[in-house]
Amino acid sequence: MEFYETIKRRKTCRDWQNKKVSLAAIKRIVQAGLKAPSHNHMREWEFIVLRTPEEKIKALRFTKEFLEKLDKQICFQNMPDKTIEQKMYKYAMPREYSMLFDAPYVIIPLFKSNGLRAQSVYELNDFASIWCVMENIFLAATAEGLGCSLSVPMDKEEENNVRNTLGVPANYLMTAYIGIGYPDPKAKDVEQYHYTAEEKIHFGKW
Ligand SMILES: Cc1cc2nc3c(=O)[nH]c(=O)nc-3n(C[C@H](O)[C@H](O)[C@H](O)COP(=O)(O)O)c2cc1C
Repeated sequence: MEFYETIKRRKTCRDWQNKKVSLAAIKRIVQAGLKAPSHNHMREWEFIVLRTPEEKIKALRFTKEFLEKLDKQICFQNMPDKTIEQKMYKYAMPREYSMLFDAPYVIIPLFKSNGLRAQSVYELNDFASIWCVMENIFLAATAEGLGCSLSVPMDKEEENNVRNTLGVPANYLMTAYIGIGYPDPKAKDVEQYHYTAEEKIHFGKW
């Protein structure tokens, strides 16, 4: 796929076709992630790949409980849907579990970290680097004709799901869960804000 076409086509997917994804494609996608720039030249990144329902149930148990509790508190169905953001949340929230569980693969990128406290953006370099990895993954998946869902762990999700359940070493943190599959062509198109470069560039000063 042509590069700018890939950029244009990438979008967050939350509904999947019932279609198998090849492990070879997943390996190419992770390999693309590993080409990302690395703040310390070390590429201290690892990837847990979930494939089976059993693996996903185990690794997402706390997410499921957390979302069920949240739904009881705020009732996803009754969320407002006036603004573009509200419409997105109303569409996304009821799918936060299925967009991972129903995806043929879930990748959990992990990065070596000294912790999340920072006084300057420089101290966030390890976190910044793994997001470069993530964007490469999103674009590579798009180029493969696949889509990605993305969920950032909230509350104690990362500690309970990953650290305690999957045995991730204490000096590695997860960034997100990335569900990968063939997007359902019938899925709703979530409204977006669109900007042009002309609107956003400030020459010389703001
Ligand atoms: C840092 C970050 C965190 C995100 N967290 C979530 C999330 O927890 N759940 C979700 O459904 N989407 C999540 N998203 C996806 C956004 O909702 C999505 O990127 C946004 O609505 C724009 O849509 P697009 O990706 O289709 O262009 C996240 C995106 C980013 C960059």
